[in-house]
Amino acid sequence: MANERLAGQRALVTGASSGIGREIAKILAGHGADLVLVARREERLRELADELRAAHGIEVRVEAADLSRPEAPAALFAATEGAGVAIDILINNAGLGVYEDFAWVEWERWAPVIQVNVTAVTELCHRFVPRMVTRGRGRVMNVGSISAFLPTPNFAVYGSTKAYLLTFSEALDYELRRTGVRVIGVHPGGTWTEFMDHANQKMKPMARMAMMSAERCAAIAVKKMLRGRRTVVTGFWNALGMWLLRFVPRALYPRLAGISMGMAVEKASVAAPPAASG
Ligand SMILES: NC(=O)c1ccc[n+]([C@@H]2O[C@H](COP(=O)([O-])OP(=O)(O)OC[C@H]3O[C@@H](n4cnc5c(N)ncnc54)[C@H](OP(=O)(O)O)[C@@H]3O)[C@@H](O)[C@H]2O)c1
Repeated sequence: MANERLAGQRALVTGASSGIGREIAKILAGHGADLVLVARREERLRELADELRAAHGIEVRVEAADLSRPEAPAALFAATEGAGVAIDILINNAGLGVYEDFAWVEWERWAPVIQVNVTAVTELCHRFVPRMVTRGRGRVMNVGSISAFLPTPNFAVYGSTKAYLLTFSEALDYELRRTGVRVIGVHPGGTWTEFMDHANQKMKPMARMAMMSAERCAAIAVKKMLRGRRTVVTGFWNALGMWLLRFVPRALYPRLAGISMGMAVEKASVAAPPAASG
């Protein structure tokens, strides 16, 4: 066993069925942490659980949950802390985006973005953090995005949910500073996962070359969490870009974001406006 740094602790990882969350789960398992894996695709979670049990001799539970359903966070809490299964590390990684015209896409597609990226994350923190405070130790990681820093046309809802996580994580970390519980906001740039397919984003060749692997993104996220950082943008160039934004007038942000998005991604689909009635 390579590293037992988190032996005896248990991490709950949302969005562990693919991408960054799956890689975070693997790294935490390598550190000896027991795991609770959460996502909708249960079969994938079960395969990962078998793999990690065999490789690291840890305890791994699978909790299939659809975090777009308002009752999901309470059910997850009941199935873990409520059943005597303490959670020392909460990784709020599950998330989704929709890259399209705000006005013409039906509300049913926007609502889950807010429910999963904001409401579920906030409720999971609200349910699990008090137990961590009582025990005098705990870690929370909220996975945001560099979209949190730039108001991005066609990505307005997604970026705003991530801006919420940026502010929420920083404020909560400070609020908890004397409790032994730390909160980190991790903000990835373009990363190779299934995210783009779900978000309706087709990356252009130049942008593909600049993307990070999910393994690397997860490694940075866990390393910075264990070091006690509050806010992290993954990758040197992403971090530099976000830092340089402070020298750009805020009025230019949407335009800048639109130009850089246009360079990276095929245009978002433009649906026809519905016919006016009445
Ligand atoms: N990839 C990027 O370029 C990038 C950049 C910045 C930020 N991020 C953020 O990184 C995080 C992870 O995304 P990823 O890139 O790894 O994408 P991904 O491969 O699509 O993974 C998303 C994960 O979230 C889970 N998820 C989505 N909707 C869910 C729901 N309703 N209920 C429960 N779980 C749900 C998915 O599991 P199921 O489908 O099995 O439910 C999956 O495990 C997200 O918060 C995303 O916003 C990604």
